Amino acid sequence: MNVIVAEGLTKSYRVSVKEPGLKGAIKHLFNPRYQERVAVNGINLTIKEGEAVAYVGPNGAGKSTTIKMLTGILVPTSGKVLVNGAVPSKNRMDNASRIGVVFGQRTQLWWDLPIIESFELIKDIYEVPTSTYKKNMEQFVELLGLEEFLHVPARRISLGQRMRADLAAALLHNPKIVYLDEPTIGLDIAVKERIRAFIKEMNQQHGTTIMLTTHDLEDIEEICSRLVIIDKGSVIYDGDLQTVKNVYARERTIHFQLERPIVSLPSLIESMPSTSLVREEGLRFSLRFDKYEISASEIARHMMNQGEVMDFHIDEPKIDHVIRKVYNHDLNLQEAWKEAEAVAKKEVRHTR
Ligand SMILES: Nc1ncnc2c1ncn2[C@@H]1O[C@H](COP(=O)(O)OP(=O)(O)O)[C@@H](O)[C@H]1O
Ligand SMILES: [Mg+2]
Repeated sequence: MNVIVAEGLTKSYRVSVKEPGLKGAIKHLFNPRYQERVAVNGINLTIKEGEAVAYVGPNGAGKSTTIKMLTGILVPTSGKVLVNGAVPSKNRMDNASRIGVVFGQRTQLWWDLPIIESFELIKDIYEVPTSTYKKNMEQFVELLGLEEFLHVPARRISLGQRMRADLAAALLHNPKIVYLDEPTIGLDIAVKERIRAFIKEMNQQHGTTIMLTTHDLEDIEEICSRLVIIDKGSVIYDGDLQTVKNVYARERTIHFQLERPIVSLPSLIESMPSTSLVREEGLRFSLRFDKYEISASEIARHMMNQGEVMDFHIDEPKIDHVIRKVYNHDLNLQEAWKEAEAVAKKEVRHTR
């Protein structure tokens, strides 16, 4: 079942054009001029119940604007959006009861109240049954380690504690969909890991649909199976994470551990196409290779012919490698895809 359907979703902001200085300010006062800035430009997106989707893109790509339209905070300029079958901006209360939202840059906790009192207010606002509240609190306190600051006002806790509390607050009413906009921004690694584990648990155990915006690509690896990349308000990639890695991360690294040194190692490496030594430490060394030029099994075979290999393993490509290339315009996804298809055809011919 589709829980989110967006068709041609578009948002432009009206921004004022003002000449600099006092003169400009006065001129603007009497004769204001505005310009349209398109932040989200015709996005089509369908998300099924229980999916965990990473929604990524460079700064200013339109991620937060998209999320604000999906949550009903902003009304689209044009296009359609349905969340749980309803228009979010028209059914805000109804929509709110089925979604949870975390904006990393902003808290929904009451600043002066102890955390536990914010939770109790949320329980009342969302009419969470006492039994559900108790059950969730027990689990969230444990998974997120909330115990130590439950009775401290929000303004006095650290950023990491605040994010954990915000996450719990967003999930107390068992929402079907959770939007997370940069939930790990500025956090240390231990807190990040705790937050990731929690989100993953909610997705896998409770089937909560997750839409996650992040600059931390480890978040994506941990939590999401689908990747949507947007740039300048448009979707430039939508597909599963594994495919992206297989198709776009051509470079792989293979690590060997030997029993005895291979005398002819440099010339052996030289003889293999698109293969280079990236690290060597005694009997351990690593080779980087282009998987379109040579396969890992071929490399392993060459090594085993020349010496005694004790162990070897291949690095899983990391998604950040690919995404950074896309952001930097070093990788054109459509061209890379065509190339991958051509290579796949070639491989089929070879094996015949
Ligand atoms: N309230 C606003 N008024 C005018 N322009 C805005 C507003 N919010 C965002 N923008 C602009 O819209 C574009 C997309 O912003 P945003 O959705 O926040 O991007 P992201 O979350 O991907 O960084 C940017 O160019 C940003 O400057
Ligand atoms: Mg943003």
